[in-house]
Amino acid sequence: MISKTLLEKLAKEHGTPLFVIDHDQLRENLAEFNRWLPRVQPYFAVKANPNPEIIRTLYKAGASFDVASMPEFLLVHENIKDLPDPQRQDFIWDKIIYSHPIKTNATLQELDQYKPLVTYDNYEEIKKVQKYAPHVGMLLRLRVPNTGAMVELSSKFGAEPGEAVDLIAASEAAGLTVEGLSFHVGSQTTNFQNFVQALNMAAGIFQEARLRGFTKMNQLDIGGGFPAPYDDNVKPLHELAKILNDTISRMFPKDVAILAEPGRFLVATACTSVSEVIGKAHRDGRQCYYINDGVYHTYSGQLFDHCHYPVRSFKEGPTELCAVFGPTCDALDTITLAEELPDMELGDLVYSENIGAYSHASSTSFNGFPPAKVIHLNL
Ligand SMILES: Cc1ncc(COP(=O)(O)O)c(C=O)c1O
Repeated sequence: MISKTLLEKLAKEHGTPLFVIDHDQLRENLAEFNRWLPRVQPYFAVKANPNPEIIRTLYKAGASFDVASMPEFLLVHENIKDLPDPQRQDFIWDKIIYSHPIKTNATLQELDQYKPLVTYDNYEEIKKVQKYAPHVGMLLRLRVPNTGAMVELSSKFGAEPGEAVDLIAASEAAGLTVEGLSFHVGSQTTNFQNFVQALNMAAGIFQEARLRGFTKMNQLDIGGGFPAPYDDNVKPLHELAKILNDTISRMFPKDVAILAEPGRFLVATACTSVSEVIGKAHRDGRQCYYINDGVYHTYSGQLFDHCHYPVRSFKEGPTELCAVFGPTCDALDTITLAEELPDMELGDLVYSENIGAYSHASSTSFNGFPPAKVIHLNL
């Protein structure tokens, strides 16, 4: 955790709003993932926070990358562009996955030269890949239960288990190579049974595929969903890791490579926002504070990610239930209607911790207010 004194000092030096990234914490989160899940190769899901310095730090720390658009691919590629060709190509093969099941023709055409792994989940995509990117490797994405996840993904992506082997057969018939399976149990999954069910499903499909003669598959991508410790109810990673390690070693032989796409887990706890009280009013019997960061900006995760970030004051003292609004003209720009806060004056600072995932990434410039300034610590 970044100390309050340091946050105040940064605000004095740089002004507000700030989005402070602690690179030591990023390295620590990656190390923790590797420590508890030694068989799993983590591909950082760039969408969670595409800040180029975050990518650089995780690249230097040995991470692999999950990208879902060409600009995300190029952000990662920036780090390897000067490597000799064979090493650059090896990196792309071993350490980048393009994990969006639906790709445009133009994206496929551009991707083909890099020959990365890509995911797919339907017949139309097979036709597109055959035509525009025949040199990529394929992972079939399965539809798996997302029960209780904070962000549900299964309504949009994933092949039904019953059609999975037919989709593998169709890809092979089109001359494409299916290297394995992938799934996503939903983001911020605290119901670890989702992982167990998905692994069971994937093991069944591996077996059925082998029986039907598709014996080349040797990769399983267990996706994202690893929960960030937003509150005490979230069980620590090592508890999930124990379940995953036991289930994976029981169901998948050692020659099946296990990949994962953690986004939130790697970046959420590494970032803190600092903003400033710019207005104050009493409305509907409640103290209201207006701050210079909001739901169209760093707090955008409240809408898009269904996440809530408590707003904390630097001041001590008796608290009351307050509303906190963002800086724009829109009433949607409401961070909370019920936050316990002490009495604050204009110019006082507030902060929110664990705000690194799906926050600054979806910040806009709506109403003329630019995204918060990014500050790097321990770069
Ligand atoms: C395909 C895919 N992989 C990985 C992730 C990252 O998930 P998380 O941040 O829950 O780890 C997402 C998030 O939406 C995703 O769609």
